[in-house]
Amino acid sequence: MDKVLIIDDDEWNRQIMKETLKKEGYTLFEATDGESGIATARKENPDVVITDYLMPGINGLEVLMELRKLRNNMPVILLTGFGDVGLTIKSIQMGAFDYLEKPVKSSQLKTVVRDALNSVKVSSSLNEVIPDDISTVLVDNLLVGKTPQMKEIFKNIGRISMNKVNILIQGDTGTGKELIARLIHFSGITRDKPLVIVNCSALTESLLESELFGHVKGSFTGSIRDKAGKFELAGEGTIFLDEISEISLNTQVKLLRVIQELEFEKVGGEASVPMKARIIAATNKDLEELIKQGKFREDLYYRLKVFTIGLPPLRDRKEDIRDLVVHFLHKLNKRFNKNVVKIGDGVIEMLQEHEWQGNVRELENTILQAIVMSKADVLEKENITLIARRHSIVESSQGEMQFKTLADLEKYHIKRVLDDLKWNKVEAARFLDITRPTLNAKIEKYDLKQD
Ligand SMILES: Nc1ncnc2c1ncn2[C@@H]1O[C@H](COP(=O)(O)OP(=O)(O)OP(=O)(O)O)[C@@H](O)[C@H]1O
Ligand SMILES: [Mg+2]
Repeated sequence: MDKVLIIDDDEWNRQIMKETLKKEGYTLFEATDGESGIATARKENPDVVITDYLMPGINGLEVLMELRKLRNNMPVILLTGFGDVGLTIKSIQMGAFDYLEKPVKSSQLKTVVRDALNSVKVSSSLNEVIPDDISTVLVDNLLVGKTPQMKEIFKNIGRISMNKVNILIQGDTGTGKELIARLIHFSGITRDKPLVIVNCSALTESLLESELFGHVKGSFTGSIRDKAGKFELAGEGTIFLDEISEISLNTQVKLLRVIQELEFEKVGGEASVPMKARIIAATNKDLEELIKQGKFREDLYYRLKVFTIGLPPLRDRKEDIRDLVVHFLHKLNKRFNKNVVKIGDGVIEMLQEHEWQGNVRELENTILQAIVMSKADVLEKENITLIARRHSIVESSQGEMQFKTLADLEKYHIKRVLDDLKWNKVEAARFLDITRPTLNAKIEKYDLKQD
């Protein structure tokens, strides 16, 4: 029989709760203050505890903290004064299962206790998934991945981190480009040198140039002193140029010069400064396509991609999802002071079926939201909200195709051309007037298959 402990100094209130819960068939224990309540809990190991907040001696939150030490997944329900918003927030932050406002309604009491008991049952049927404690720094920079694609990437990082070739990281949004850049920087010869990150899309052309190369005093209004640019600050370390596709053609020319001549001039200055940093550039765009459109210089492209790392979208490495979930539970529990250490049945399968347009970042946000919403120590389906699959091709009533986005149209067109040409990719690429690699990239991106 399930055991419920009630801690409250108010005799009348205890009486009412006892009567309600007795009818539900629970075994009841009671205490009139925090200390004796904790003593009873230690002796009887109740399944659920209900505690008042304001009592002589220690208060309900202190009781909660002590009970946590006793058994981590013991649900504690806090009784709060009506409308005491501050306290209810605090109690949930500190890990109370739920709170009930006084005077307690018997129907609410029954529901909350039943929910709490349920959560204990689910919890005790599952094992903890979080590994032994490792340091926060390590957790934050850990790169998870056991699929062959990811292993191959790790191997390549091993190869390239011991010299300073320029690297281009390509991958859809949220696939981990910045994390990879950090890993390359911190695992090789640049480890003890600076890592400087520049988001190329965040600045206008002239600001970006002064940001990259620095400027001398008086070179433009407002430049009241010399300023070192990011290339200078990176020294012999790494400069990470994020969203490289966003830099203007003018700046591209200047960047190309830096790479070729290994030196640069500050804006408004004459003396040249040597460039010794390794450049890692990242993009979620198809640079070859931009070259075709005249928006990106081909010569710069080849200078940047001495070595290329292509990060696969998450939906192509579903086997990593479980490890990623465990990793994020570990990382986010710490950050948000939660204790979700178990994974409910069917959760991983559900996550593996999702499309993950936003890739690993979307997964991380989903887990974060679920952690924040969970009352107990289990990651459960009910707390996971998945962004609905993006609307794709819709057939109208007349049977003609309607496309929501340009990408949908492109996908449909490429598939039709491929099918018409019996998947002869050379011919399809020629017909579509794109290169073979671009065609391959699109086939992969849209997950096209021969019927
Ligand atoms: N393999 C991985 N293991 C652990 N965490 C990961 C992994 N890949 C990505 N992440 C996490 O997912 C989030 C997004 O990663 P990151 O910022 O590196 O992506 P990105 O490709 O740079 O995205 P964007 O194109 O939007 O800039 C980060 O919090 C990162 O720590
Ligand atoms: Mg990024």
